[in-house]
Amino acid sequence: MSQSNALLSWHPASWQARAATQQPHYADPVALERTVASLSRLPPLVVSWEIEALRARLAQAQVGGQFLLQGGDCAESFEDCESDKIAKRLKILLQMSLVLLQGLKKPVIRVGRFAGQYAKPRSADTETRDGITLPCYRGDNVNRPGFTPAEREPDPELLLRGYERAALTLNFVRALIDGGFADLHHPEYWDLGFLRHSPLRGAYQKIVDSIAESLEFFESMSGQRVQAATRADFYTSHEGLHLLSEQAQTRYIERQKRWYNLSTHMPWIGMRTANIDGAHVEYCRGIANPIGVKVGVGMGAEWLQELIQILNPQNQPGRLTLIHRFGIKDVEQRLPEVIRAVRATGSQVLWVCDPMHGNTETTAAGVKTRRFENILAEVEASFRIHEECGSMLGGVHVELTAEDVTECVGGARGLAEADLARAYRSAVDPRLNAEQSLELAMRIAERAGANRRTPRFTSPA
Ligand code: PEP
Ligand code: CO
Repeated sequence: MSQSNALLSWHPASWQARAATQQPHYADPVALERTVASLSRLPPLVVSWEIEALRARLAQAQVGGQFLLQGGDCAESFEDCESDKIAKRLKILLQMSLVLLQGLKKPVIRVGRFAGQYAKPRSADTETRDGITLPCYRGDNVNRPGFTPAEREPDPELLLRGYERAALTLNFVRALIDGGFADLHHPEYWDLGFLRHSPLRGAYQKIVDSIAESLEFFESMSGQRVQAATRADFYTSHEGLHLLSEQAQTRYIERQKRWYNLSTHMPWIGMRTANIDGAHVEYCRGIANPIGVKVGVGMGAEWLQELIQILNPQNQPGRLTLIHRFGIKDVEQRLPEVIRAVRATGSQVLWVCDPMHGNTETTAAGVKTRRFENILAEVEASFRIHEECGSMLGGVHVELTAEDVTECVGGARGLAEADLARAYRSAVDPRLNAEQSLELAMRIAERAGANRRTPRFTSPA
């Protein structure tokens, strides 16, 4: 079937004929319907030309011309929709992108896991504590993390509250960027308080100075000012999980003659909802946004090949990003297999490493954590394996926060398991704190710099 024929059978609600996993059960279907109807009347958060601009940049990243930095909370919380927290989160992503830009010598595409990352897939539907069983917490768009029947009851109104918060977050991010927050001419905006006491301070300052010098050199040589801050320089993403709310924001754009999800630039399909015949894949195949797909242990070659065929039958550049998350123990074996499987399809994809979700472990004290050394090792192994296989790692996907949390162990400050209790705030997965995030970016940049200094060919004697 050609793509246009296949798309004839698609419409924003066609997923409803498929099995939809990970959807909450609402006690009052009438209230749910009312909320979804309200949601579908609200104006969109993003527009199709921004989505197309992102797709064009992802297409360049697929051929090595750009690098994707995708990051933010595992689950955003409504409480954290505060100006200071949003600004800091944006800053840490900007700082990381600056370090990557300087190290990789290519433009960095910044995509936040925010302004809508409010729904979570869970491995179990219920949670039991002290003999009491309640529905699990599925993200602030669905219910509340507190362990009481009232807090765990899925409430459709939360979808509206989440949409409003996503709009507030994005509005503030756009204003900050428009106001010069991301402008390389003002590196003083780029400092976070934590850096003053950080062992990384010196290295970071050197990077900022070197960028300032390069800009000055270019501008004095060319007589032109480099315009670094542009409105669409920052994109949003979230897991396209709660299908009724995704459907409510799916609009036909006459000019493009395509359907778009206008609640985010780049939705992704999570590991637990990537079934070929499932509702999430059905929904995503019909929207024109660039799509991310998480690829983990358990996703075989044929499954992946079929997904590529369904989601990108025309091999459209920039359409598909594969986010592999094998964990350090499986990446060496599994990554070459998936690279070969994808190559056999002849389809172009952007390869991105999520070094978080395959490296989650539980400490002896029962705390969910991730080790910085494993996170870094998976990223480094991924760069190397792609090179060895004649492929290319074109981005990283990380869970991080700008807060000074203690959720992942290791890093320059050597956080130990005993430190985890001090500032563990995540309601779901453990995140890198600001310092660990910056360190990760620096180590990636250093690796790229070291590779450039190693001559690839030895000249004949
Ligand atoms: C996530 O990104 O928070 C997540 C749940 O990832 P995955 O689908 O890869 O497990
Ligand atoms: Co997560």
